[in-house]
Amino acid sequence: MVQLDVSYDTKTFEVPPAFDETGRLTSDCARQARQILDEHGFVLIPDLLSDEEAAKGLDFIRDAIDNPNRETGAFASESDIRHRRRDFCPLPSAKPVLSYAALICQRLEEVLLEYCGRSRQILEISTLTSYFGSSHQYIHRDPEGVLCMFVAVDDVSPEQGGTVFVPGTHNYSGAEYAHGRKANRLMELYQAQANFRILRYNLINLWRIRKLAEPSIPWRELRARVFSLQTDLHQPNLARFLFGGSAFTILNFAPHKIFSFLRYRKIIKTAYRLVQAAPKKGTVVLYRSDMLHAGPDNRSPIPRYFFNLNIARDIIFADRWRNGYSPHRSLLAEPISLGDLLEEQN
Ligand SMILES: [Fe+2]
Repeated sequence: MVQLDVSYDTKTFEVPPAFDETGRLTSDCARQARQILDEHGFVLIPDLLSDEEAAKGLDFIRDAIDNPNRETGAFASESDIRHRRRDFCPLPSAKPVLSYAALICQRLEEVLLEYCGRSRQILEISTLTSYFGSSHQYIHRDPEGVLCMFVAVDDVSPEQGGTVFVPGTHNYSGAEYAHGRKANRLMELYQAQANFRILRYNLINLWRIRKLAEPSIPWRELRARVFSLQTDLHQPNLARFLFGGSAFTILNFAPHKIFSFLRYRKIIKTAYRLVQAAPKKGTVVLYRSDMLHAGPDNRSPIPRYFFNLNIARDIIFADRWRNGYSPHRSLLAEPISLGDLLEEQN
């Protein structure tokens, strides 16, 4: 296997939980979590859920995936989804799902309310699954103004993936002043460099694992994933690289960009790095949607499951909500706010 230069050491980004008598994070613990989120753009809170609570989440995720009539999401990594290497499934606003989401939000109340007001909408409650043979997404930013949450309902090993973050790349007023006021340009160059490596990594590994997959990856799928002409922003493939329609294209190799890269390559090397969060069961990961991140490939025969919740930090145009996220039709029909979840009785 070709390897990417990724650190799995997430200690700097973790806050051990401490709970008050109501079961919520203590003010001090919430303050530490906000501090890390503000500084790096993401934070991990291990053991926010007990093993039993995590297992409960895994149970209804499996039930949801087993339902042949379920809704499916197709907003990212469309090629992986078409070939059943990933599965994004919006969850219905049923009592067990809402109670579960409420339990997590209530424990995190003092963290969430710093970023999202009580009236802000829950944009999506879903489950994200990846299987062996899925591709490493390009490093990208999601639409701004959203606080995203991944809940590890089972242990995630580095081989199963998790989420890759580039610490310190979130947007805020004056963020571009960092690194001698060159932060925006340096982040753009770093993203292009990382995505070049991811394109190479993906193509080589796809070729190498074609016979290891069970069943093996058929030629038709291999060809479709390398030369897919269907738009896919996050899937590294050759056709989209050459003809556009993805987060990384041949335009990133324009002469002035290569010149900039050569000029700043030393500072880029020290300013940014890839950190992969492969969280243990019961961990909650919070991140700001506008930071650089990606969903890695799954190199393990064991599927990787996440419970996913996205909360708006601002008002959102209805079309953007429907097109940029995967709300279940029951959530669209009856919108839910963060306040609703904070008041939900478990
Ligand atoms: Fe994303």
